[in-house]
Amino acid sequence: MKDDKSIFTKAVHADIDLAKNHGALSVPIFNASVYGFEDADEGSAVHNYEKPGYYYGRLGNPTQTALEKSVASLENGEAALAFSSGMAAISAAILSNVRSGEHIVALQSMYSTTTSLFAFLSENFDISVTYVGATEAKNYADAIRPETKILWIETPSNPLLNISDISAIANISKEAGIISVVDNTFATPFNQRPLELGADLTVHSATKYFGGHSDLSAGLLVGNRERLADAGLKMTRLLGGSIAPQVAWLILRGIKTLALRMNQHNNNAYGIAHMLQSHPKIKAVYYPGLETQKNYDIAKQQMDGFGGMVSFDLGEFDTAKRFLNELDVCTIATSLGGVETIIQHSAAMTHAVLSKEERAKAGISEGLLRLSVGIEDEEDIKADLLNALDRIGPAV
Ligand SMILES: Cc1ncc(COP(=O)(O)O)c(C=O)c1O
Repeated sequence: MKDDKSIFTKAVHADIDLAKNHGALSVPIFNASVYGFEDADEGSAVHNYEKPGYYYGRLGNPTQTALEKSVASLENGEAALAFSSGMAAISAAILSNVRSGEHIVALQSMYSTTTSLFAFLSENFDISVTYVGATEAKNYADAIRPETKILWIETPSNPLLNISDISAIANISKEAGIISVVDNTFATPFNQRPLELGADLTVHSATKYFGGHSDLSAGLLVGNRERLADAGLKMTRLLGGSIAPQVAWLILRGIKTLALRMNQHNNNAYGIAHMLQSHPKIKAVYYPGLETQKNYDIAKQQMDGFGGMVSFDLGEFDTAKRFLNELDVCTIATSLGGVETIIQHSAAMTHAVLSKEERAKAGISEGLLRLSVGIEDEEDIKADLLNALDRIGPAV
């Protein structure tokens, strides 16, 4: 299929290869970890990458290849690599591009385990990291040193939905002769395609919207073929964070409804963010589609939709806890991107690994709640949130 189709069409058709799969509309799950050869020459050629093929599970299989092609098509990248988790994809992006003695510029407020990974690399492998306020592209430029190799971007960021200007930061990286990497988990290619904006690599926790049903863990890395070949060889071969064929298949199935689901996530979250914004018990609402959000103009420019994530602040730790206990439709759970609405208390859950001071530095207040808006009826989710707000007592 030509590449000029809408993402609604691409999502449904990207993996279909009738000639290869006996006409099957669903890619088969290749449950094989070992592949045999017709003769010794073929075995040698495949092992030495002189002939395309598969020989060992850790190094790929045809179901995984179908997934990688589909994801590359959705992100408008040359190639993609699939991993066993988002963190495996993030580790691959970093370790295939940075060596000991080198430096990364990253955002101050982002997914907490990425922050922990950077701390681990600094403490143990002499890779230094400078954290910057990422809503100003200039802060990245100011932090670049001769030994800098990566500008790390996460937009919208977890959990504050901060917006960074992808093309401005990608231009800064190009001028410096280094690379920019965007964690595109919150947006998905339905809403934002960083490679089109000049970024070198995109990473995803496919555990979230790509899978979409809260039933798998996986990661994706997308970019140009040469860079990914190197990352794939080094990172899946040596570190081994490979995806299982059954999981690759589940994501392929999830992708067929990615556009439909994202459309509903976007619409529901847009309505809910606006409703929360006008509620007197809520101190602040963070959502890329609110005019009050910093860099709203940039979000409007670089995103096709604003996504399904909304964070809001109830002020005190205990107020947030009481609110959670009053919910019925929304489930208290970490993670995001599934069909069901889930909500989590950042200070008590995902960001509990940081100290109170570190959370404050990252802008995460003790009463911050992060809502992953599902695809249920918008009015049912709104009613559940309003009911819980009613029951937590008067505004203070
Ligand atoms: C923005 C972001 N990136 C990466 C990850 C890590 O993904 P995984 O849990 O699949 O390793 C997460 C997980 O929540 C995330 O929110």
